[in-house]
Amino acid sequence: MEKNVLVVDDDEVIIRSCEAVLSGEGFKVTGATSSKDAMNLIDDRVFDLVITDLIMPTIDGFELIKWINEHHQYTRVIAMTGYSSKAVLRDAIALDIMDFLPKPFFPHTLTEAVTKALNTPPKVPVPTKAVETYDKAKFQSILQKYRQRPGSLIIVLQEVQELIGYLPASVQKIIAKAMKIPVSEVHAVVSFYSYFTMKPMGKYNVRVCLGTACYVKRADEILEKLKETMGVNEGEITHDSLFSLETVRCIGACGLAPVVLVGTDTFGSVDPAKAKEILSEYR
Ligand code: FES
Repeated sequence: MEKNVLVVDDDEVIIRSCEAVLSGEGFKVTGATSSKDAMNLIDDRVFDLVITDLIMPTIDGFELIKWINEHHQYTRVIAMTGYSSKAVLRDAIALDIMDFLPKPFFPHTLTEAVTKALNTPPKVPVPTKAVETYDKAKFQSILQKYRQRPGSLIIVLQEVQELIGYLPASVQKIIAKAMKIPVSEVHAVVSFYSYFTMKPMGKYNVRVCLGTACYVKRADEILEKLKETMGVNEGEITHDSLFSLETVRCIGACGLAPVVLVGTDTFGSVDPAKAKEILSEYR
């Protein structure tokens, strides 16, 4: 399948040069001349790889990479810069990039770096219901159903999250427009309720309560057992996209402590061994 590569550089000549080299190798290349434009593009479609300059005005490449790591962890990143000091290299590597290209570089250096990066699995799998693949007709029918009903934002967000699996910024923008409210209002609600997520989730989202009542009953050991069994850390998705792992603070079921949630199912009096058994029920 054709791989999508986004090249981000405030110098259009660099974008065009990368495009000339990479499209000749069969890659589909899109360009962005600012981090802001890049963020909008990344919110709207899945890129297999982002190649970004580091020194750019307003939002630099370091900030862009941090944002990608937080919101689109499945996107691989290569950094490039004409200011390749040891400090820049060290700071870029600390952001867990896949490669570093000091400018200027030879065409074959770029092709080799891109091919190598794309042959490496992403840090987390691309969400199965990525932004392009969800049922857009159903999404529109949800918006249609509630757009004339004031105060129905939460229910819209619930239904859309059920449909897509998460609420990326691009989806929040469409919801805000349909409901005729500021996107900041949608974002505030999504950020406030722990039920809503802006990150892609596995088919089953596993949440371990680390509130006080659960913590004193060894919830931290349950979390460690789940990490070990699933092979992921908090905030990550298993490679088969079946599970994602999160922690939450008190869900109001302290009498059942320690508590683990799998999707909407609640399990009480869990211990590390039972946590492992619970996972196997969903496999
Ligand atoms: S502390 Fe875990 S449910 Fe209250």
